[in-house]
Amino acid sequence: TNIILLGPPGAGKGTQARKLVDERNMVQLSTGDMLREAMASGTEMGQKVAGVMSRGELVTDEIVIGLIEEKMASASGNGFIFDGFPRTLPQADALGALLAKTGQALDAVIEMRVDDEALVKRITGRFTCGNCGEVYHDETKPTKVAGTCDVCGSHDMKRRADDNEDSLKTRLMEYYKKTSPLIGYYYHAGALSTVDGLAEIDEVAGQIDTILDAAS
Ligand code: AP5
Ligand code: ZN
Repeated sequence: TNIILLGPPGAGKGTQARKLVDERNMVQLSTGDMLREAMASGTEMGQKVAGVMSRGELVTDEIVIGLIEEKMASASGNGFIFDGFPRTLPQADALGALLAKTGQALDAVIEMRVDDEALVKRITGRFTCGNCGEVYHDETKPTKVAGTCDVCGSHDMKRRADDNEDSLKTRLMEYYKKTSPLIGYYYHAGALSTVDGLAEIDEVAGQIDTILDAAS
């Protein structure tokens, strides 16, 4: 099963993708994570995108399509979860072509709906384990012991450079301008489902399970 998680910054795409990896052995393809890895390892491309990303703008289609193509060729598992990709119409067309080329289908596009006020709270309260990648939130998902990852015990908690109100404003503008047209695109392709992203994490996961069970 191949799916897209579509939604604004902070909608919970990464949180739900990690659950699907654990529970269904799917492969998470997050272009945001790939770009942050490139930045952390200091590659030429990583240096090129650092400023763009911290301001909250989109990087070029060419870069992210290249990253996705590379990962699709090397990763294997029980289907792909596209998380944060596609984000523009050209990216959606490119994904369609990549899937067609490898004889694969897109089984569901899941729109995670959350209002803007909730997004500000989610983004400004988010922190992540630098070791295993578990995503937390100061209020809705704190660690059991302050400063210690529940999953791996690491003390290396990180906050993202673009998780501030200014960059978030730009990220939301980019989402509404360039990414939200994909909702109509996939609706007309007959692939779109919607979940209530404001519900609790496990409740959202249940809604996604229902969609996946119907699709596979
Ligand atoms: P990216 O890394 O994709 O970030 P994003 O889309 O802004 O999404 P986030 O990771 O912020 O949010 P999420 O939906 O995963 O939410 P999460 O689960 O963490 O992109 C970053 C940048 O990279 C872009 O701005 C761009 O520059 C570049 N980029 C990436 N892909 C690109 C592409 N395809 N094209 C061009 N540029 C690209 O949850 C958020 C918080 O809420 C957490 O604290 C979590 O614990 C909490 N939470 C989650 N679910 C719930 C819930 N149900 N109830 C309460 N709290 C919850
Ligand atoms: Zn951890």
